[in-house]
Amino acid sequence: MIQILEDLKKTFTEKMGPGGEILCFFAPGRVNLIGEHTDYNGGHVFPCALTVGTYGVARKRTDSKLRFYSANFDELGVIESDLHELTYKKEDDWANYVKGVIWAFKEHGMVLDQGIDFACVGNIPNKSGLSSSASLEILTCKVIADIFKFDVDGVLASKLGQYAENHFVGVNCGIMDQFAIAMGKAGHAVFLDTATLEYEYAPIDLAGYRIVIGNTNKVRRLEDSKYNERRSQCEAALADIQTLMPVKALGELTLDEFDLVAYAIKDPVNVRRARHAVSENQRTLRAVKALQNKDLTTFGRLMNASHVSLRDDYEVTGIELDTLVETAWQQEGVLGARMTGAGFGGCSVSIVREDCVDAFIENVGRVYKERIGYAADFYVVEIGDGPKQL
Ligand code: GLA
Repeated sequence: MIQILEDLKKTFTEKMGPGGEILCFFAPGRVNLIGEHTDYNGGHVFPCALTVGTYGVARKRTDSKLRFYSANFDELGVIESDLHELTYKKEDDWANYVKGVIWAFKEHGMVLDQGIDFACVGNIPNKSGLSSSASLEILTCKVIADIFKFDVDGVLASKLGQYAENHFVGVNCGIMDQFAIAMGKAGHAVFLDTATLEYEYAPIDLAGYRIVIGNTNKVRRLEDSKYNERRSQCEAALADIQTLMPVKALGELTLDEFDLVAYAIKDPVNVRRARHAVSENQRTLRAVKALQNKDLTTFGRLMNASHVSLRDDYEVTGIELDTLVETAWQQEGVLGARMTGAGFGGCSVSIVREDCVDAFIENVGRVYKERIGYAADFYVVEIGDGPKQL
């Protein structure tokens, strides 16, 4: 058995006491290859689950208490709650994600009659933009569904996770992260149409190339409010376009169609926001085609173009992500590089030729430290499966 889980089981007994039937679970993190800020605009995304993620150990209680412990937030100790008080509490910190999912189950008619003891540990860096929170949400879905025998498939789990995040935690996120994690498949990316939730698995055969993630280590502040602001700007742009034509989402438009109606958008900033949503969706469609045709060069160029659009039209990059990505573009053996996730800090993703990975990390790391003043971290990642009981 893997060490991290062995350690977690020991910690569970220390913190929660012995006895009962203890079950073990895992849910991955995710990285998005292309299709950024399209998932709340009815567009396409192309993420994949990672082999790193969150491990959980859980047991049913005989009363209605809920007890939570995370080794990543050891200083917070065991956080206690109750099935009868499923409300957001600031002091419950990370445990709000778990409470939120239990609440989402209840809101969807799946009511728990007993509480749980739950301990977890993640090996995705917190707040890195690799979806440690969605990983925890989907882990909780798996824990609750398996322990209480609710019939919850991956699509429903992703909806419950998003519901918890939108209505309990208060972040207006789209469904990409939860879907990528709940539906993850080793060696594959998930090509998802967020307007219909139709999806396909696309094999990622990078033939001698590796996926390298760069973590800016930027401490993010206010990212949720900026995220919600971008969402509102897209909604305002759509409402303006709807005065001319009956579209339901920006993702329905091609760039040519958008050019013909963009004059209706009143705020010039919103023109750029909407142009990103439209162009990024089109790039995602092209990128997936390129990959099907084994045209990795085009795939990489579309990743680069995605970053430029996120930098100039959507303005969610910042000097840290721009430094990582623009330095990556200059390195030998790099097919493409872009920011990934919500932005404003977080991570970059690059496709790098295997024999160039070490030099890539050294060079990009050096330039980043010189320019930003502190170090970035790099992870060479593998595409893993969705959640499972271990
Ligand atoms: C965050 C959100 C996702 C998605 C991305 C941007 O990760 O949780 O729903 O909007 O940002 O693509």
